[in-house]
Amino acid sequence: MKNNKAVEIIRSKVDGRHPKVAIILGTGLGPFAENIENKIIFSYKDLPGFPDAGVKGHAGQLIMGQINDIEIVVLQGRAHYYESGKPDIMRIPIETLHGLGCETLLLTNAAGSLLPEAQPGSVMMLTDHINFTGVSPLFGETETSRFVNMADAYNPSLCDKFRDAAKTMNITLHEGVYIWFCGPSFETPAEIQAAKLLGADAVGMSTVPEVILARFYGLNVAAVSIITNMAAGMSDEHLTHAHSIENAAKATNDLQTLLSEFLLQYNK
Ligand code: HPA
Repeated sequence: MKNNKAVEIIRSKVDGRHPKVAIILGTGLGPFAENIENKIIFSYKDLPGFPDAGVKGHAGQLIMGQINDIEIVVLQGRAHYYESGKPDIMRIPIETLHGLGCETLLLTNAAGSLLPEAQPGSVMMLTDHINFTGVSPLFGETETSRFVNMADAYNPSLCDKFRDAAKTMNITLHEGVYIWFCGPSFETPAEIQAAKLLGADAVGMSTVPEVILARFYGLNVAAVSIITNMAAGMSDEHLTHAHSIENAAKATNDLQTLLSEFLLQYNK
């Protein structure tokens, strides 16, 4: 890894903390941070190479702390490709998580559902993805390791842990393939029909570049979406960002419970 200033800054202030698990909180999931104990908070503004987290509902801070006595590091707020046109906008934050010694990255996001049984307010674990944008966060990378193997990118044993956590907590956990559209406009109904034919179960504007970067740095990945809406053309609901945030609140509780239980089981 190159000289990563953010890692140095964080290390100098968090003596003796060695989180193995990192979590990226997506739209509407900010409140999860309230459950974190013994917090040390860094604003993205103070971490060189970190983006502004510009979207409403995203705070823009890195939090070190504990949940269920397990050390974690949380990125509250992410930047999206559509904000800057830069597919590698999350590269430094993810490199930083790796540099801090994390081995696992849990990604959360808000997504539209293509599965009739996965209704708004439910949660879906991602088992694979389709990159429908044609861009990569590794454009320009010259290391041979840029040829990242993406088979089992969504780590099967982490997926099993989430299934167990869902069972224990009596939460319905849908599963499916996530397709990345660049946004910021929502998809057309025709695009969603095409996505269905390709095998997608959920659609969103984030996560995929972060998964590619995380695998590039050797982090194990799992991802869970909160379903905020049915994808375009699949219901009469009019798609707006405000709707996404509103419906996020319903699924947030379940996902918070799921993450806490996952962390309890992580070290077993
Ligand atoms: N499409 C893309 N991104 C999204 C959606 C959607 O329907 N819902 C939440 N994020």
